[in-house]
Amino acid sequence: MSTAHTLETGGQVATAPVRHFISTGDHPRAVLDAIVDRAIANAGARSTALAGLSVAMLFFNSSLRTRSSFEVGIAQLGGHSTTLEVGAGVWNLETIDGAVMDADKPEHIVDAARVLSRYFDAICVRSFPKLKSLEDDLADPVISALRDHATVPVINLESCLWHPCQAMADVMTIRQRFGRTDGVKVALAWTPHIKALPTAVPNSFALAAAQFGCELTIVAPEGYDLPEAVTAQLGGATVSHDQSLLSDQDVVYAKSWGRLDRYGEPPADTLRDWILTPEKLGDAVFMHCMPLRRNVEATDAVLESPNNAAYDEAENRLHVQKEILVELIG
Ligand code: CP
Repeated sequence: MSTAHTLETGGQVATAPVRHFISTGDHPRAVLDAIVDRAIANAGARSTALAGLSVAMLFFNSSLRTRSSFEVGIAQLGGHSTTLEVGAGVWNLETIDGAVMDADKPEHIVDAARVLSRYFDAICVRSFPKLKSLEDDLADPVISALRDHATVPVINLESCLWHPCQAMADVMTIRQRFGRTDGVKVALAWTPHIKALPTAVPNSFALAAAQFGCELTIVAPEGYDLPEAVTAQLGGATVSHDQSLLSDQDVVYAKSWGRLDRYGEPPADTLRDWILTPEKLGDAVFMHCMPLRRNVEATDAVLESPNNAAYDEAENRLHVQKEILVELIG
């Protein structure tokens, strides 16, 4: 179902489609490029672009960067944010269509979407996959319900499938380091982890890298594939199991994710020899969305190296998200 909001135009009521920010793939490169351009030009600036506007931030999961950077960014634009932690002072939300709600979840996401739309000018939401059923998670139920039932823009703060705000900050970081994205040699490098992590970050990074013309190589152990729904959108990306390719890259984007064929299961083999070290990286710029498990995913030496751009990425979340908000509701 598509949603629309009404515009009062001289006594006439017209409808305009609501613009969401759920995946970078929903937007043409020209729009994304313009957002990154403005984020670089306006970094650190304060404005009144969101004066009088309010943004709901619905969190089903924990966050350090996303919550902080959105709250601060909205304040820097003169707007108001309300952070709602589902199940912690906010009703626990049912997300299954047609559920008989006789258990521990007193409100349905459909009703929450409709009610929040009456108060707020945009709804931001973080809802990770449950990692029980790949099929269920590929449907991305929470963000899909909000997209279908909210009547204001929905911004994805990391869903089962996508983390587009992170990817925009990543692209901005590559632009800052290299002055361009086209032709930059970028490896998405799988790293070890104690848990089977979701694929939203690597999905969105790989997609954005392809959209922005990077030369993308995915370097991961055998069996660690990204969902076909994502790889189908990546054009000519190379896939390799050879870590020696990393030192030949301009950028190594480190991230762990779980096997899709053993969905949600803790890794049987920890593959600790996939940890990133300065020797593997050579002169490549190191990127990571954070949080990062030091000395599991990458060594302390990588984090303390001048080639580490992970803190720039975290800062750029603030700058680029402000421009996404202005684009959608400013
Ligand atoms: N990278 C990122 O989204 O960080 P948080 O999980 O801390 O928000």
